[in-house]
Amino acid sequence: MLVNEEFEGQNRGEATMDSGKSDTICVDHRKDEELEGFIDLWKLMFGFMYSLGLRWAVELGIPDIIAKGGPESMLSAEEIAGFLPSPSPNIDFLSRTLSFLATRGIFSQTLQPNSPIKYGLTPISKWLINDTDNGGAKAGTFAPFLLLHTHEAVISPWYRLGESILSGSGFPFELVHGKLLFSLAESNPELGRLFNEAMGTYSKILVKDILAAYGDEFRKLEFRSLVDVGGGNGSIISVISRSFPNIKCCNFDLPEVISEAPSCAGVQHIAGDMFVSVPNADAIFMKGILHDWGDEECKKILKNCHQALSKQGKLIMVEMVLAEAGQSKSSWSEEIGGIRDMIMLSHQRGKERREEEWRKLLQSSGFNHYNIISLPSEPLQMSIIEAFPAHVED
Ligand SMILES: C[S@@+](CC[C@H](N)C(=O)[O-])C[C@H]1O[C@@H](n2cnc3c(N)ncnc32)[C@H](O)[C@@H]1O
Repeated sequence: MLVNEEFEGQNRGEATMDSGKSDTICVDHRKDEELEGFIDLWKLMFGFMYSLGLRWAVELGIPDIIAKGGPESMLSAEEIAGFLPSPSPNIDFLSRTLSFLATRGIFSQTLQPNSPIKYGLTPISKWLINDTDNGGAKAGTFAPFLLLHTHEAVISPWYRLGESILSGSGFPFELVHGKLLFSLAESNPELGRLFNEAMGTYSKILVKDILAAYGDEFRKLEFRSLVDVGGGNGSIISVISRSFPNIKCCNFDLPEVISEAPSCAGVQHIAGDMFVSVPNADAIFMKGILHDWGDEECKKILKNCHQALSKQGKLIMVEMVLAEAGQSKSSWSEEIGGIRDMIMLSHQRGKERREEEWRKLLQSSGFNHYNIISLPSEPLQMSIIEAFPAHVED
């Protein structure tokens, strides 16, 4: 407890008058801090209610139901319930949950005397609309991403984090499931599809920033070959192919992922294992691959990329480059960096890296030169890292 004995009996955390001397009001700031700490603790302790409440809202399609009426649409719980796939939903539960989520700005609510509360969308819930034709929705939704990261199988490793720390080895996801998320998806196709969809939806949002920042470089690859290593369902390479139809595009991923990937004109799908080899190409694209892995695994992937590239080839990676400690542009960017790093720790075997760590990895794998092009409008602070292979005679 933060209570300071000296203050006990003087202020007790309340404003008091210093009788006889002056009218100065003394406030015990330590009491304020203590109270703030207590409230923050409560919010954090029950923070799972917001993430799981969001999951529940998406599963029932609430953002889409509200969005059908347009961007300013406001509906009562009863009106929303009319769209739910149940003849007798509990409207009281629905209303209380929506009001709870509204306290955190996930939905808006109008409170008018003698009329039912109406709920609307906010900048947070607009990111979760699937139906992009309605409600002024963004061209892209984070709903699959939210469903993946609040999935029971993906949250459960958090219960083993302490064990991972104490044991000094073993990542939490592997402690729980005995394998990594990619391999789990192989035996759980529903989770696999969700994973690929989640990656794809985020990539669709990100690809616009990538093309804006790097379009001229992609144009130089016309009539040459570009392979997306770990390209998932091909969501990024298909957009690159549509924008630059003369690039010979290839999507490379594990067999179970490739077998589910939709066919796309101009993109050849190839199944394989990047730890064994990657297809030869003039340029290799990799988004969000190396941060899944530890340094030794990254070196294997990078060496295989080096081997697959022509002498004038290049590697184009899209990854986060963490700001140096204490040099983040804003407090939220530091928080996002921390969240992303913890995702890599708890769901994969990887980590987010600072520039120095990228430099060491690249140089030890035969990529002596590199440039970092940040994507400033991208909220998750991704950068393009282009790297050039050094060959023996260089
Ligand atoms: C984080 S996802 C990124 C997907 C995609 N690049 C994107 O950003 O949307 C990592 C991808 O690496 C693939 N992957 C994992 N292990 C692999 C391997 N050994 N060989 C090829 N691809 C692999 C996964 O199947 C998955 O599609």
